[in-house]
Amino acid sequence: MKEVMRMKEEPAAPFLRQEKEGLTLYANGMSLRGDLTRMKPRLKAARLRSELLIKAARIKNKEGPLTAVDATAGLGEDAFLLAAAGWQVYLCEKDPLIGALLEDSLSRAVEDPELAEAASRMKLILGDSREFLAEIGFTPDLVHLDPMFPERQKSALVKKKLQLLQQLEKPCDDEAGLLRSAMDAKPQKILIKRPVKGPYLAGIRPSYSIAGSVIRYDCILLQDM
Ligand SMILES: C[S@@+](CC[C@H](N)C(=O)[O-])C[C@H]1O[C@@H](n2cnc3c(N)ncnc32)[C@H](O)[C@@H]1O
Repeated sequence: MKEVMRMKEEPAAPFLRQEKEGLTLYANGMSLRGDLTRMKPRLKAARLRSELLIKAARIKNKEGPLTAVDATAGLGEDAFLLAAAGWQVYLCEKDPLIGALLEDSLSRAVEDPELAEAASRMKLILGDSREFLAEIGFTPDLVHLDPMFPERQKSALVKKKLQLLQQLEKPCDDEAGLLRSAMDAKPQKILIKRPVKGPYLAGIRPSYSIAGSVIRYDCILLQDM
C-alpha cells in the first residue's frame, strides 16, 4: 500500500495590519481588534455602578481620585470600566501584539467624545507588570489581576474573539510572582478576577469574594478599610 506522507502544517505567524477601522491582528484564520466603543452601553452611571467590577473595587471612606494598576490589561476593557467610574488607571500589558492592539484602541478612544474622558485617565505601560510594580514609586489604592481568560462566555462572537486571545496568551506561568508583586506594592485592595468556580489565584484565600453568574472577584484587603 502506498504510504501517504502528510506534511505537518505549521500555523502561520500572527501579523498586524493597519486598517481604516484600526490596527488588526490576524492569526489562524481569525482577526482581532481592540474596540472600546463596545463599552458604550455599559457607561451609563446606573449600569456602571451595577458592574460587578465596580462594586468589588469600591474603597470606602477615601477622598479624591483613586489610583488602580491593572496588572494584566489585555484589551483594556476592565481598566476602561474602572476609568469610566473615575479611577486613574495604569495598565500593564506584556504581550507585544496585544499591547499594540490596546495602544491603538486607546488612541482611538481619546478621539471619541463618549470615551475620551475615561480614556484620558488611562496610562498604558507596555511591559511586565511585575517589573512596573517593583518600581512603582507611589502606593496604588487598588491592583487588579485577571491573568486568565474565563472559559465560559455567552455570545459566539465573544467566544471567537477569546479563542484568538487565548491562543496568543501563554498561560500565566507565575501566578505567585504576580500576586507577590501586587502585595509588595501595598495597595489597599487587590482584586482578582476568576471564573466563578475557578481556584484561588496561587492558592491564596482572599479576604472575601463577590460572585456573579460567570465570574467572581476575590478581594484581598491589605489595610483596614
Ligand atoms: C485575561 S487577559 C486580561 C483581560 C482584561 N481584563 C480585559 O478586560 O480585557 C490577561 C492579559 O494579561 C496579560 N498578562 C499576564 N501576565 C502579565 C504580566 N505579568 N504583566 C503584564 N501583562 C500580563 C496577558 O498577556 C493577557 O493579555
